[in-house]
Amino acid sequence: MTTTASAIKFAYWVPNVSGGLVVSNIEQRTDWSYDYNVRLAQAAERSGFEYALTQIRFTAGYGAENQHESVSFSHALLAKTEKLKVIAAILPGPWKPVLAAKQLATIDYLTQGRIAINVVSGWFRGEFDAIGEPWPEHDQRYVRSEEFIRTLKGIWTTDNYSFDGKYYQFQNYTLKPKPLQKPYIEVFQGGSSRAARDMAARVSDWYFTNGNSVEEIKKQVDDVRSKAKLANRQVKIGVNAFIIARDTEEEAKAVLNDIIAQANVEAVNAFGDATREAGAAAPEREGNWAKSTFDDLVQYNDGFKTNLIGTPQQIAERIVALKNVGVDLVLSGFLHFIEEVEYFGEKVLPLVRQLEQQQEHHLAAKSA
Ligand SMILES: Cc1cc2nc3c(=O)[nH]c(=O)nc-3n(C[C@H](O)[C@H](O)[C@H](O)COP(=O)(O)O)c2cc1C
Repeated sequence: MTTTASAIKFAYWVPNVSGGLVVSNIEQRTDWSYDYNVRLAQAAERSGFEYALTQIRFTAGYGAENQHESVSFSHALLAKTEKLKVIAAILPGPWKPVLAAKQLATIDYLTQGRIAINVVSGWFRGEFDAIGEPWPEHDQRYVRSEEFIRTLKGIWTTDNYSFDGKYYQFQNYTLKPKPLQKPYIEVFQGGSSRAARDMAARVSDWYFTNGNSVEEIKKQVDDVRSKAKLANRQVKIGVNAFIIARDTEEEAKAVLNDIIAQANVEAVNAFGDATREAGAAAPEREGNWAKSTFDDLVQYNDGFKTNLIGTPQQIAERIVALKNVGVDLVLSGFLHFIEEVEYFGEKVLPLVRQLEQQQEHHLAAKSA
């Protein structure tokens, strides 16, 4: 398979919490065990996935009854893979930057530079209350996350590092060894609100957002990129999608209908209530889940909205349409992870690469 220089990248959600990626009673041949996850990670790297994203949750809720911790789980997956980069979710509050910086620098050495992080800002107030963490209001959570990212990058690159922020302070701190990856470990972040986009433009390497239509994603890409340009920075974009690829469109749509028909109604409604503390709570009501319907919420991060549901050809075309509005990476979830990751690698990815190549040839011919 030939890949073009600007080939779109693929990540998958690590099912390190129970219940899969949909809040539904439908049968899911996905498992949160370590053994299943190792087989999945190995299948994913064989199938062309470059990244895996772990989740952080401290308490049960909405189907995720059991949750393995993200940093240790990421390390364990890296130990059993060769190429895959694993993105460990980190939540400022429970994590302090000093510990995260040290932990991740060590993992970077142990895994030949394959760890990355996703700084999440918190959406689940019940969780913060349960673990005795204060719950700053929405935009303050981003003030804290921004300081978190600034201090991580500072510690990873600078000797005698000092910082005097609202949430974190450092005085002449020198971390040794610094991470293997230069200039530092890649920093992703999740969220769609104005505060999230502004933070991405200022400090993050990657902006991860919930699923949405191409038009809505384009608005976010343009906003983040134009703000980043003002700061003389470049930010890459990752979009969530729940992928249902089947030989026929009817089969794929039937699976989606079944997932929604068998939704765990009580859990979806409770999840909807909790998300109002997150995206919908952002002052401009532009955050994740601000406009989500019941059906959207059956997938935790609005992954049905991206509409990568259909035949391999339809999905490949829609992925290239996302790329054409500036998306660099598709973050994917599946119902039956291992088997569907393999089907994706065999049937969908080659079509994406073909379409990308055709498009590049076409552009080259036009500019010649
Ligand atoms: C791709 C992605 C992954 C996320 N992973 C987690 C996670 O593992 N744990 C968590 O508590 N929140 C997670 N979040 C939630 C975000 O950090 C954030 O709280 C939420 O998206 C609401 O942000 P907003 O109001 O800025 O849109 C994730 C969000 C996205 C988009």
